[in-house]
Amino acid sequence: MTTTQDDPTVFNQLAKRIKLEGAITIADFMADVLIAPKHGYYMSGEPFGAAGDFITAPEVSQMFGELIGVWCADTWYNMGGPTELNFVELGPGRGTLMTDILRAAGMVPGFLQTLQVHLVEVSPSLKKKQKQALAGFNITWHQDLTTLPEGPTFFIANEFFDALPIKQFERSPDGWCERLITLNEDGKELIFALSPPSKAIESLIPKNLCSAAEGAVVELSPIASTITDMISRHILDHGGAALFIDYGRDVPTATPSLQAIKAHKKHPVLKEPGTADISALVDFPTLVTTALNAGIAAHGPITQGDFLQSLGIEQRAEMLRKTGTDEQVVDITSAEHRLTDPNEMGTLFKVLALTHPDHPTPAAFPERPE
Ligand SMILES: C[S@@+](CC[C@H](N)C(=O)[O-])C[C@H]1O[C@@H](n2cnc3c(N)ncnc32)[C@H](O)[C@@H]1O
Repeated sequence: MTTTQDDPTVFNQLAKRIKLEGAITIADFMADVLIAPKHGYYMSGEPFGAAGDFITAPEVSQMFGELIGVWCADTWYNMGGPTELNFVELGPGRGTLMTDILRAAGMVPGFLQTLQVHLVEVSPSLKKKQKQALAGFNITWHQDLTTLPEGPTFFIANEFFDALPIKQFERSPDGWCERLITLNEDGKELIFALSPPSKAIESLIPKNLCSAAEGAVVELSPIASTITDMISRHILDHGGAALFIDYGRDVPTATPSLQAIKAHKKHPVLKEPGTADISALVDFPTLVTTALNAGIAAHGPITQGDFLQSLGIEQRAEMLRKTGTDEQVVDITSAEHRLTDPNEMGTLFKVLALTHPDHPTPAAFPERPE
C-alpha cells in the first residue's frame, strides 16, 4: 500500500494525519475509519446482511422491532399517554427497526398519531435507505442530538453505542498509558503504540480496575457517556424513556474488545482501514452510572434473550408460524433461536432502559428495590 498525499483511501488519510500530528488515539482512529466524510466505512457502503459484513437483530427478524414497538406503546401508556411524543432513533441503519416499530405502534389505539419521528444519522447513503424504507412517514433527520426538539421523547438505539469511538488504556510496568496508533518505520503499515505513563491517565481508570495486572486494557467511551448524559437530562427535563440494545459488558472488566468484522469474520483492526466494521463492547455499567448521576432511573441491563422472551417472542413466533409457508416456518424458528439463545445473541446482547424517576418500571425489567 502506498501513501501518496492525494490518495483518498482511509489508510492514506490516516497516514497523512499521523505524519502531521503524531500518533493518534484509538478514538480518533475509530472516528476517522467509520464516519470520515468521504471514505468512512458507514458513509457510502452497504454493510448489512448476508452480502455485507454483519447482520443486526432487526435484520434477523421483524419480531425484534415489533416487540420493541409493543414495549414503547406500553411505556407511553404507563407514563400517562402524552399526546405528542418525539420518537428518536440513533443510528437507524437501513430503517428496518423503525419500520417494524411503527407497524406495531399502529396496532395500539392513539399511539402512532402521537409520534414525531426523528432519526440521528451521519451517513448520507444510509439516510437514503431510511428514506425509502420509511416512505409515507414524516421524518426529520439530525446529524447529532443537539438539534432535537424539546418535549417528551423516546430514544431507541440498537447497535449504535458499539460503533462509537472508545479510548484504550494499558497498564505498563511503569503505570497506566494510553494505547495509540502510529506508522511503522517505512510508513506503510499502522501499528499500536503506547503513550508515556502518567498520573492524569491513571485518574481516568475506574477505581476497581486501577490495580489490574500488567498488560490489562481498560476501554472507555467518553462520547457514549456524553450522549447518555444528554439523553438523561432530556428525559429528566421533558419526560420520556430510552432503550439501548447492544453487545456489551454488564460488569467492568480490564480486557480489550475492540474488533473489526469483514464479511462476517474477524479481521485485523489495523488492516485495510475503512473496509471493515470496527466496534467494541458497550460499557453498560458506565452508562448506568451516567444516567443515575443525571438523576433518572436506570433499569437493567438485562439480556436480550430475557427481554424478548418477557415481551412474548415465543407467542409472536407461534402466531407468525401459523400463517407461514414451510420455508417461513423454518426461518421464524431459526430467527427466534438466533435472537434469544445464550449461544447466539441472547446473552451477549443486553438491554438497558432509562426512564424519568417518577414513571413506573417499564415492561420486561425487574422492579427496582425500594
Ligand atoms: C451497526 S449500525 C446499526 C444499524 C441499526 N441500528 C440496526 O440495528 O440495524 C450503526 C449505525 O449507526 C450509525 N452511526 C455510526 N456512528 C454514528 C455517529 N457518530 N452518529 C450518528 N450515527 C452513527 C451508522 O451510520 C449506522 O446507521
